[in-house]
Amino acid sequence: MHYNNLGKAGLKLSELSFGSWVTFANQVDFTEAKKLMHLAFDHGINFFDNAEAYAHGGAETLMGKVLKDFRREALVISTKIFWGGEGPNDKGLSRKHLIEGTKNSLKRLQLDYVDLLFCHRPDADTPIEETVLAMDALVRGGQAFYWGTSEWSAIQIESAYQIAEKLHCIPPSMEQPRYNLFYRERLEKEYSPLFKKHQMGTTIWSPLASGVLSGKYNQGIPKDSRFAKEPHLIPENLNKQVEQVKELAKLALELGGTVAQLAIAWCLQNPHVSSVITGASHIAQLMENLGALQVKTKLTPEVMKAIHKIMSKEAAY
Ligand SMILES: NC(=O)c1ccc[n+]([C@@H]2O[C@H](COP(=O)([O-])OP(=O)(O)OC[C@H]3O[C@@H](n4cnc5c(N)ncnc54)[C@H](OP(=O)(O)O)[C@@H]3O)[C@@H](O)[C@H]2O)c1
Repeated sequence: MHYNNLGKAGLKLSELSFGSWVTFANQVDFTEAKKLMHLAFDHGINFFDNAEAYAHGGAETLMGKVLKDFRREALVISTKIFWGGEGPNDKGLSRKHLIEGTKNSLKRLQLDYVDLLFCHRPDADTPIEETVLAMDALVRGGQAFYWGTSEWSAIQIESAYQIAEKLHCIPPSMEQPRYNLFYRERLEKEYSPLFKKHQMGTTIWSPLASGVLSGKYNQGIPKDSRFAKEPHLIPENLNKQVEQVKELAKLALELGGTVAQLAIAWCLQNPHVSSVITGASHIAQLMENLGALQVKTKLTPEVMKAIHKIMSKEAAY
């Protein structure tokens, strides 16, 4: 396992990390969560991702129970604030919700601080200034070490940097974008000036496009899969994607790996990715996904060209 700096910050994140969206407190109970997190940690994963919204706080509560097994200093824990409940002040990026939401997340996680705190989405109803000031207060107050954004546009992130500079606030350190073989444009193109100017870090999500890139949907939708449970996540062009996955699987086989490992390895090779957050509902999936570290060493320029050729048949841009 390699440990990357979070952009220009001193913090070291394992290049592969582990998240709890959809799985924790839904598909995964305490016993299974404990097994998954120990397996991840034993293989060098130090970064675990969460959000106040996941299972309405249930994912944080579950993760918090398992976190007790580890030395706090050995871990990097993140949570994300935006969707905290139904009331008018239970969501968004107002000073009130950011500070109350973080307090509630810490209580569920049974922690004094998180390492990374994200604004889970942009909030059109709150001035970015108010959000920057609240995140600055949370970092200075010790509830988080670094703050960042998730799924903000480059313009919104740049604006946060400028406001932070003007107000002498702590600027964001990272963004959490979706990034996988089907969804590349934002990280590779839109964010490019932010990497040059601010050396922003990224912790990317859905490296397997919710499982499509594991090949599990090649013959339809298995009963116990994410798409069976959450049909609203099924992409419109699933059939087209499956055709590409079948091609990628042949390439992966030639490299002695699986298509899931190839897809995750492809995310790992991007120098602007600080950590690839994987998800798993079963131990066997996590074991397989950890094998991406070996496949990464086989991504020669020729292999990258072959991947590009397969993907450009239905380019994302
Ligand atoms: N910031 C944000 O807005 C945001 C959004 C989404 C996620 N995230 C974070 O990123 C993490 C990862 O995202 P993700 O869960 O979408 O990642 P993903 O790797 O694209 O999908 C994970 C899911 O795919 C299936 N899977 C994983 N490995 C597999 C394998 N080897 N073989 C077959 N199936 C496999 C499992 O689902 P089934 O077994 O149920 O089919 C698993 O839960 C989340 O847990 C969360 O922490 C952040």
